[in-house]
Amino acid sequence: MGMRWEHDTFAILDQTILPHEEHWLICDTIDDLIEAIQRLAIRGAPTIGISSALLLATLAIRGASPFELARDAARLRKARPTAVNLINNIDRLVEKIDSPNYPESVIEQAQAIFNEDRELCDRIADNGAALIGKNERILTHCNTGGLATAGIGTALGVIRRAHEQGKNPMVWVDETRPLLQGGRLTAWECGKLGIRHSIICDSAAAMLMQGGEVDTVLVGADRIAANGDFANKIGTYSLAVLASFHEIPFYVVAPSTTIDGNCPTGAEIEIEERGMNEVRGVPGVEGTCLWAPKSSPAFNPAFDVTPAELVTGWVLDGGVYTREQYIQNYQEKSSL
Ligand code: MRU
Repeated sequence: MGMRWEHDTFAILDQTILPHEEHWLICDTIDDLIEAIQRLAIRGAPTIGISSALLLATLAIRGASPFELARDAARLRKARPTAVNLINNIDRLVEKIDSPNYPESVIEQAQAIFNEDRELCDRIADNGAALIGKNERILTHCNTGGLATAGIGTALGVIRRAHEQGKNPMVWVDETRPLLQGGRLTAWECGKLGIRHSIICDSAAAMLMQGGEVDTVLVGADRIAANGDFANKIGTYSLAVLASFHEIPFYVVAPSTTIDGNCPTGAEIEIEERGMNEVRGVPGVEGTCLWAPKSSPAFNPAFDVTPAELVTGWVLDGGVYTREQYIQNYQEKSSL
């Protein structure tokens, strides 16, 4: 897990320098956390939402007034635009600011958000692991493990549960350009857990699928629209197209807290665009190592949208859904 909350101290594991250094950064202020979220020292849809709730609770413990907390929450809510968990968790916390019980109301809510994510991860892992056969070769993208959640992860949590069940999965770890969350973080987590894995260049996925070396693709999500389209790390859409062409099952794995009921389709999801140097270079312990001409323009969308028709199933905490079941389930919930 990439967060530590000890009463009035909140710290994050700096994911920009993993796997080379395990360095915990104390976040004392909203500016500290916004900066950490924006430079991806802390990342992954559930983690950025949960860390925001925990820091707001920390500030409440330290004596922030309801007015100050609401003002800070409004700033944090805009730290990154694509992951709906950030917005949802902050909104859930803000609902408790006006309670006569403040600050306990806010502290309890943050604790509940944290505990909830751990439980959702466990349920997702059980649901997803049931889909995995013995010795399956699973391709995954970005990092969706313990670093990206409060629990065991989403797509990587499924792989971990299958590993614990003795199914001996093998993971093709997409390096995940430009910031290498797969090659740095997923490989690190797999190594610690003793899960068989091999890092590949993102562009090697097609060749592996063509050669029959991939049994399943499991990816996470930053926001799932009401029609099942979803945004995830840039490169996910191309994997979905490839999996469809090669008739390989392609699952999106996420907690129900990543579903955005106000977003009818993927077209309405805001896609974060990041700095050009992330594409012009690669991240290193001492910052970005640039290898492209500094004057060459670059385009750096952080996420893409995969259309629902390319998805075999939605692995959520409530179960594994086909497209029809996902839409029906969503509509039933929203009409309550
Ligand atoms: O830019 P990042 O590293 O925050 O992107 C993360 C992803 O795309 C993950 O797949 C997603 O947030 C799900 S994490 C459980």
